[in-house]
Amino acid sequence: PEVITVAELAKRMGEKGADLVKELFNLDMMVTVNQTIDQDTAELLVEQFGHNIQKVSDADVDIDTSEESDPEETLKPRAPVVAVMGHVDHGKTSLLDALRKTSVTKGEAGGITQHIGAYQVTTKDKSRVTFLDTPGHAAFTQMRARGANVTDIVVLVVAADDGIMPQTVEAINHAKAAGVPLIVAINKIDKPEANAQKVRERLLEHEVIVEEMSGDVLDVEVSAKTGAGLDDLVEKIALQAELLELKARPDRDAEATVVEAQLDKGRGPVATVLVKRGTLKRGDTFVVGSQSGKVRALIDDQGKQVKEAGPSMPVEVLGLGGVPNAGDLLTVVENEARAREVAAYRQERDTEKRTALAPTSFDTMFNKSN
Ligand code: GTP
Ligand code: MG
Repeated sequence: PEVITVAELAKRMGEKGADLVKELFNLDMMVTVNQTIDQDTAELLVEQFGHNIQKVSDADVDIDTSEESDPEETLKPRAPVVAVMGHVDHGKTSLLDALRKTSVTKGEAGGITQHIGAYQVTTKDKSRVTFLDTPGHAAFTQMRARGANVTDIVVLVVAADDGIMPQTVEAINHAKAAGVPLIVAINKIDKPEANAQKVRERLLEHEVIVEEMSGDVLDVEVSAKTGAGLDDLVEKIALQAELLELKARPDRDAEATVVEAQLDKGRGPVATVLVKRGTLKRGDTFVVGSQSGKVRALIDDQGKQVKEAGPSMPVEVLGLGGVPNAGDLLTVVENEARAREVAAYRQERDTEKRTALAPTSFDTMFNKSN
């Protein structure tokens, strides 16, 4: 607060109001206990009485998210998180679909991906890859920007009949900004008008130099329709992932990133999260953004209930107090009281920020974390 009554200040200091008034009189200020003084005066008084000024800071209440790293010996290999990006209709969802051999595209309204879907695929050699499907519509640029944040590898889908388009370039730039390696999937090679070589050449203009052009960016010709090249794509993802030596500690309280969240009519607030480290379990209490909650159920990408989710695993979380924002970090805390305290503190802080500051852009948010 900018101003405080003398009485209130006295109460907080554990001093008598009259003593404060006397001290103020000595400082040439004529006030009564019920009058207000400004912050500078209050601080001066506090010092005069030999007290310490305590400001409530994030460190007092909030969770320390300074990302202390886990000891090397606790780390275990984890699946790579792969964001599938590219221009609208270049075949991102179809490609993922073919990899999962299910039918996501058919269920989508108008065939345009509305959310970031998160799926895990098990490869032939039994290793797992987590895929994030990102929307290709221009209005979802910000969501895509976020997509790269939790991402280890970006698969850039370029339709061989359409070539490099504005959102192809955007995806390239996002991957570069996030320092994430790219794998180029040249899709729709089954089409007669497909020209994969032209795609490779045009990528040079954006400083993406694929192997065939004597660069080091991996590229694969694929067809989501016929299934051609899909094994090759998975193999290259595995190869790229191996180079990254991805690890996380599974045996600790979980930290997870929200990839999408919404209010579900029947189930209440639901968030799809991607576990960064630790293991998220049913019954865990947590804070996510300025919401608190307790895991009532965890649902995997097949729609099945699971008891827990380890690093790189995408799951739906039920049991949230409200809908968090995509990009928010979910942190497991010791008990519900603590979860509520942190959530309340963050809510208050958010309200203050909203009135004081212009909203920060997604891109700022995105570059700070990870
Ligand atoms: P957004 O989510 O809207 O950005 O689109 P998307 O990139 O996910 O594309 P989607 O998978 O919805 O495919 C768009 C259209 O291209 C659909 O009609 C697909 O059937 C078609 N398509 C995708 N992959 C191929 C392919 O390899 N060959 C052919 N011939 N058609 C394809
Ligand atoms: Mg799609």
